[in-house]
Amino acid sequence: MATVVDDLLPLAAPAPRAADGLWFGKDLSTPEPLPQAAIEQAVALMRSGRLHRYGEQGKGYPEPSLLEQEYARYVGSKYCVAVSSCGAAMFLALKALGVKPGDKVLTSTFTLAPVPGAIAHAAAQAVLVETTAKFVTDLADLERKAATSGARVFLLSHMRGHITDLQAVREICDRHGVAIVEDCAHTMGAQWDGQHTGTWGKVGCYSAQTYKHINSGEGGLLVTDDDDVAAQAILMSGSYMMYDQHILKPAPEVFERWKYITPNFSMRMSNLAAALLRPQIAMLADRGTRWNHIYAQLARELSLCVHIHIPQRHPKEAFVASSIQFTLDLHAAQIERFLRECALRGLYIKWFGSVAPVAFTSNYGHWHYLGETPALPQSDGVLSQLLDLRTPLSLTDDDCRLIGRIVLAACDIAASA
Ligand SMILES: Cc1ncc(COP(=O)(O)O)c(C=O)c1O
Repeated sequence: MATVVDDLLPLAAPAPRAADGLWFGKDLSTPEPLPQAAIEQAVALMRSGRLHRYGEQGKGYPEPSLLEQEYARYVGSKYCVAVSSCGAAMFLALKALGVKPGDKVLTSTFTLAPVPGAIAHAAAQAVLVETTAKFVTDLADLERKAATSGARVFLLSHMRGHITDLQAVREICDRHGVAIVEDCAHTMGAQWDGQHTGTWGKVGCYSAQTYKHINSGEGGLLVTDDDDVAAQAILMSGSYMMYDQHILKPAPEVFERWKYITPNFSMRMSNLAAALLRPQIAMLADRGTRWNHIYAQLARELSLCVHIHIPQRHPKEAFVASSIQFTLDLHAAQIERFLRECALRGLYIKWFGSVAPVAFTSNYGHWHYLGETPALPQSDGVLSQLLDLRTPLSLTDDDCRLIGRIVLAACDIAASA
């Protein structure tokens, strides 16, 4: 069934253009090329044929073990386990924390499909927590649901890089005996109050999917300081009995507790993915600076539009923007018109209030497998006006100015429609 926004996607047919001649036309989903060192190491590995991380006669440490060591040092965690995706990391985190079929798991309403997907994978039941107009967790709703839902885990999504006050989240969760799992798919390199996201709770989960801060196509990293969580994650990720080939690993007696009662879910990272990622860790700081420059340019341009609101970021939030979100203070039909006018000018903006999922973007109303969800009036209001623009590192200052002009023109037309 065609939806009202289907034709906003940049598909094969040339798009009709607007009469005012404004045209952007860059593909915002174009990633950066991989660094030369990554390409060379990947080619060497392919020549060797050794793409699986474990071998029966382990010689030296495989690429994922080295990556784990380097990433744990980067964020300041005791352990890191390299896995096949962030979705896999979140699933393993829930399992390692003892989430059983039918258990309740608190999670963010403003997030993307892999987050409720990880909860469903563990056969648990998502309990959605409201999102504020600053695109972060509503702490009062978290407190209420932590007290009443019976959930023992909060899978907190730092969606699109917006970080909830982690000190406050921790205090609430501690008060109610709830463990925190952070979904840091959009916050690699970001910190709250000088401490990396992913290290505030029991487990942090990161993504290395192409549109994230580091790119191996698919890949995930799980960090924790907890011996039992680390041992289970290593075993469940599919290390067979070769967990000794990890550099960062709990003591043998911890594995003894788990090795006969923990299933292998085969969610390892390959040597190839780790080889592609290792040189990218050192690039995170520079990428963050470039992304935040683009964010600042765009925020300035977009704020010229009276209908657009961009939340003020908290001073403790050292975010890394790989996209920009804003509220467009218009009603649904006008927002559809706005998106259409942008698309006519070669600019494709996503909308979390869309009636149907479009490309990567969906909202909780589209995840029917969640079953009945309680009323979420605040999140509904926020999502219904929430727009999202991917910001690849290739965007120049001129691009940002052009995007600003297109948005202003489209907004003028939409607001008077
Ligand atoms: C908010 C969020 N969390 C988690 C994930 C999962 O990442 P992965 O694709 O590595 O499973 C994604 C992926 O896009 C995401 O957007």
